[in-house]
Amino acid sequence: MRLADKIGIVTAAASGMGRAGALRFAQEGAAVGVVDLDEAGANAVARQITDAGGKAIALAGDLRQDSFAREIVRRTANAFGGLDFVWNHVGHPGPAAIEGIDWKDFELAMDLNVRTVLVTTEAAIPELRARGGGALLYTASTSGLTGSQFSPVYNIAKFGVVGLVHGLAKRYAREKIRVNAVCPGPTDTPMLRVFVARPDSQLPPGETPESLVVKRGGQVPMGRPARPEEIANAALFLISDEASYVTGVALPVDGGATA
Ligand SMILES: NC(=O)c1ccc[n+]([C@@H]2O[C@H](COP(=O)([O-])OP(=O)(O)OC[C@H]3O[C@@H](n4cnc5c(N)ncnc54)[C@H](O)[C@@H]3O)[C@@H](O)[C@H]2O)c1
Repeated sequence: MRLADKIGIVTAAASGMGRAGALRFAQEGAAVGVVDLDEAGANAVARQITDAGGKAIALAGDLRQDSFAREIVRRTANAFGGLDFVWNHVGHPGPAAIEGIDWKDFELAMDLNVRTVLVTTEAAIPELRARGGGALLYTASTSGLTGSQFSPVYNIAKFGVVGLVHGLAKRYAREKIRVNAVCPGPTDTPMLRVFVARPDSQLPPGETPESLVVKRGGQVPMGRPARPEEIANAALFLISDEASYVTGVALPVDGGATA
């Protein structure tokens, strides 16, 4: 098993890629703190893991609250006896528009893509250090590597995540804390539907969120969006000891989109 005896946290784990990651990591032997705003969803994922003989606890709450973003570290470490990795996966598309920008949505994007992951990081580092090292993984996006006409604000947030990864990787390398990001392209989750059809985006006439998901996927060289499990597989590699010499990387998992 690739994560035998490891203890970790996955945020935004009730759905999509986070859910796929939590299930996959548990299959590979990790004990997982399953964090989400959606209490029933987090409980269901944790139960699916424990029913299969794995170890998990559900941690339901709003990561916009700094106290909760810290508490997930303490509660996971207390439950399982330490912490080896965190996948800071939570995020938010933010506003599509620049002219007439919705500043509340801007703040939500900055809070969920940048601030909360930093709060959790601050809380996690002493726990990782206590184990002699560990892995921090973040979810950026292809929008953290190249510009998106659909989402300049999302670009700010996800370029910020990649910047954080580069800085942390160098700062903590000697303490054996590896820091990386996955950069998904369009991935078939509920958030992709929100992203392509935000209230302030210009939905082309006759299009629906579903038709736009197919269209966005069709623009990728591989001709389709990613499945959540394909992102989870890359995340598994980056947090596992197989990636022992990999740090400071923002890995595109995008069907060739940024090639
Ligand atoms: N889906 C894509 O195409 C895509 C592409 C690139 C990057 N991303 C990034 O992936 C992450 C989202 O993943 P997904 O597509 O698997 O999403 P998803 O829609 O499947 O799940 C998002 C989860 O986040 C939870 N959540 C939302 N706000 C929260 C909060 N305040 N506190 C705690 N949990 C909260 C929701 O309850 C939900 O379970 C984000 O960081 C996003 O920017 C998504």
